[in-house]
Amino acid sequence: MANKSHFNKGHLAINSQRKNGISHSSYVDISDQDIKETIHAVFIEDAVKALKSIPDNTIQLVLIDPPYNLDLDYWDNFENYLEWAKLWLDEIYRILSPSGNCVIFGGFQYQDLKKGDLLEILHYTRHSTKLRFVNLIIWYYKNGISAHRFFANRHEEAVWLSKTKKYYFDLDSVRIPYDKDTKKLYKKDKRLNPETVDKGKNPTNVWEISRLNGNSKERVGHPTQKPVEIIRRFVRGLSYPGSIVLDFFAGSGTTGRVCIEEGRNSILVDNDPLLKEYLKLHLKQIDGKFFIKPYSIIQGEDMKTVIEQMSDMLSDKKGNSVKLEKVVAL
Ligand SMILES: C[S@@+](CC[C@H](N)C(=O)[O-])C[C@H]1O[C@@H](n2cnc3c(N)ncnc32)[C@H](O)[C@@H]1O
Repeated sequence: MANKSHFNKGHLAINSQRKNGISHSSYVDISDQDIKETIHAVFIEDAVKALKSIPDNTIQLVLIDPPYNLDLDYWDNFENYLEWAKLWLDEIYRILSPSGNCVIFGGFQYQDLKKGDLLEILHYTRHSTKLRFVNLIIWYYKNGISAHRFFANRHEEAVWLSKTKKYYFDLDSVRIPYDKDTKKLYKKDKRLNPETVDKGKNPTNVWEISRLNGNSKERVGHPTQKPVEIIRRFVRGLSYPGSIVLDFFAGSGTTGRVCIEEGRNSILVDNDPLLKEYLKLHLKQIDGKFFIKPYSIIQGEDMKTVIEQMSDMLSDKKGNSVKLEKVVAL
């Protein structure tokens, strides 16, 4: 069957605009951003409490991997999952900037009614918040446990939501290069734009990325740590250098580590103080990488002050240096 997106009026309009050299309205001009350093603020506190202290319209990307009531750890057990989830879901629209995005990891495979899952979250955000649904990303992996009474699960999902239609999306930063032979073949195809062929292909919404197994070098000890590769694709595509990325279920701090590598500011919240120990191990893994801009880890500073400083660094081209006092060595 034909891919229906070819007949989608919105897609046709965007493609015709692009042919005429006009950018889609989601475009945020970052051409003059010269990011010299970044800030990463760690908050050991309850997610909802932290969210309440975040000013409106300040966060470019909310990237979270919430607990789903699966009894994976002591933090993963709730009487009424959705009632709890609403408390943080209701804050996301308010804190996102107009070009802001939100990614929520989860799964659909949980069979126990008492558990939460991404279906419930998606249903709630679509019907009871102003967030817009953009994409459902299927994270496909080949490694996993076997099953005998149903098909063994080999995917998880992430929902991408945005605040407005003018969400930021940098597809070029996450394109996948074609192999040599395919590129040669496509360059001969008159229907394809040679520039786009050079840039690589759209990764699509099915991403094959291995899960971290027990002895993976990336592991820092958190039971549900996400692979850097999957977080990097979201950070690159849905936020821009110097913008603020928030993960209020930070776990081991994978999001913070990727933001350091990718030149974004980050706010990491988790109610488990072990976050700091895990983050230390993440930092060790990236220590000495030559492309990383100078960065500061902040703890104990007030949320508003942190966000003000991050926003100033982005808008104030003169004073691009960290003025916060509570810089810590983890
Ligand atoms: C699924 S893990 C996140 C793992 C993370 N993506 C990583 O790559 O390391 C969820 C985290 O949420 C934290 N958490 C659970 N309830 C919380 C709450 N009410 N406030 C803040 N953090 C919470 C847990 O401590 C846990 O580390």
